[in-house]
Amino acid sequence: MIQTVKTTPFSDQKPGTSGLRKRVTVYQQPNYVENYLQAIFDSLEGFEGQTLVIGGDGRFYNDVAIQTAIRMAAANGFGKVMVGQNGLLSTPAASHVIRHYQAFGGLVLSASHNPGGPDGDFGIKYNIGNGGPAPEKITDAVYDRSKVIDSYKTVDAPDIDLGAIGTQSVGDMVVEVIDPVTDYTALMQTLFDFGAIKALFAGGFTMTFDAMNAITGPYAHKIFEDILGAPKGTVVNGTPSPTFNNGHPDPNLVYCKDMFDLLMTPEGPDFGAASDGDGDRNLIIGKNRFVTPSDSLALLAANAHLAPGYRDGIAGIARSMPTSAAADRVAEKLGIEMHETPTGWKFFGNLLDAGRVTICGEESAGTGSDHVREKDGLWAVLLWLNIVAVRKQSVDEIVRAHWATYGRNYYTRHDYEEVDAAIAGQLMDDVRAKLPGLVGQNFGEDLQVAYADDFKYHDPVDGSTSAKQGIRIGFTDGSRIVLRLSGTGTVGATLRVYLERYEAADGRHDLDTQYALEPLVGLAEQLAGIKQRTGRREPSVIT
Ligand code: G1P
Ligand code: ZN
Repeated sequence: MIQTVKTTPFSDQKPGTSGLRKRVTVYQQPNYVENYLQAIFDSLEGFEGQTLVIGGDGRFYNDVAIQTAIRMAAANGFGKVMVGQNGLLSTPAASHVIRHYQAFGGLVLSASHNPGGPDGDFGIKYNIGNGGPAPEKITDAVYDRSKVIDSYKTVDAPDIDLGAIGTQSVGDMVVEVIDPVTDYTALMQTLFDFGAIKALFAGGFTMTFDAMNAITGPYAHKIFEDILGAPKGTVVNGTPSPTFNNGHPDPNLVYCKDMFDLLMTPEGPDFGAASDGDGDRNLIIGKNRFVTPSDSLALLAANAHLAPGYRDGIAGIARSMPTSAAADRVAEKLGIEMHETPTGWKFFGNLLDAGRVTICGEESAGTGSDHVREKDGLWAVLLWLNIVAVRKQSVDEIVRAHWATYGRNYYTRHDYEEVDAAIAGQLMDDVRAKLPGLVGQNFGEDLQVAYADDFKYHDPVDGSTSAKQGIRIGFTDGSRIVLRLSGTGTVGATLRVYLERYEAADGRHDLDTQYALEPLVGLAEQLAGIKQRTGRREPSVIT
């Protein structure tokens, strides 16, 4: 019954920041999914008879790829596949299911916040037994294997009924279709004070949660409305759609502008939040206060002890390099470890497994903790609600109090999307060449370069090194300019420019962010010549 099918390699199956993301049309090429999955299975050892978890964000092509993956898992010798009903599992829920059932690993089918549909993006990511994205050692092996692969294994079997909860079989392999929400919800109930949050809603606290027509809808309806008692209608766009209703499921101020505007009005709710295509990102907006993801990380770390799951305090904090240093100040005050890692959640896995950090975050709207090995959008929303419920203060009051204690890290990111890849690469090379000469130089009145380098990470747990992780130019006053090329884009190159400036606890905390960072924006332009080289007059997205 097992069939070995001949194939020829594709040259472009190199996993990026978060799995292999490509246009759907690329994935639709004959054998494209099969080759990549076989390259993954060929790079793993010891999974005979073990369990593989499969889940996706419900985007277009999920169903096709999942049926293929189930047949190939059976042919390659897995003993069992656990798959979310209708193929659905949010990325954090998939991570939890892998851990909870001690699976060998899992396939997460998503292109996160990228648009979906026949002309959109698709993605496949392999997660290891700790529930987190495969480390570079594995993703490198997968890429190497994909370049020489000449056959894949599958079985001749009909499709699984993904709608039917319960057990079916494919050849000798068991397939269990599970409810995607149950286990995850139970985990959240162990971490947060649901009683306090319920009382908050009962007391008239209002929230709007935008599931962006993506995966978190069913989770949010269940947790916020059914269990925590928020009124029906609190969750909007709560039905997952294969095209995200033709939307762009990225919870930022561009795609959630209407919510932002609503939160800035007196009639708006007390709290607004959103999550992305696969449920790992979050957006937090209080009445009259947008919380930047970097600040959110710092605030959640500083207040985590107010939630039952973190009552005994946190072991340490990790942030990706481009994320602002706001969390560093919290770690310093708490006297706990602080780690700066390259962009991408996979770099947090070792630190979390070793118990060295409890809370992690990225400036790209990602925060999470050691409860899973992915960032977790709903977790961040629930922790915020728990904090608001205990402190009995508004988001705005909590944020201002934080700045008055730790100071404020003004922060913004300017993205230039779909830039010609050669031009972007040259731009980075040219800035890199200038770095050694920059240290000690003064720009304007108060910007003196303290360090200028290409970030290199030494993993303190496994000793591995990851080089060329982004250009950092740091100034003596705590300001920073960071430049890097995206590893998740699917067309051309995306240049990301990250800008940060520190204002002490007794400084000015009420400036407009873009205004506060104007001198650094100008300096980045002076050093990199972005406008002239790319022909763009302004960034495509500012977050
Ligand atoms: C982006 C974000 C990064 C995040 C990743 C996956 O990667 O910048 O923080 O981990 O998406 O959600 P990039 O496109 O910058 O490589
Ligand atoms: Zn995502």
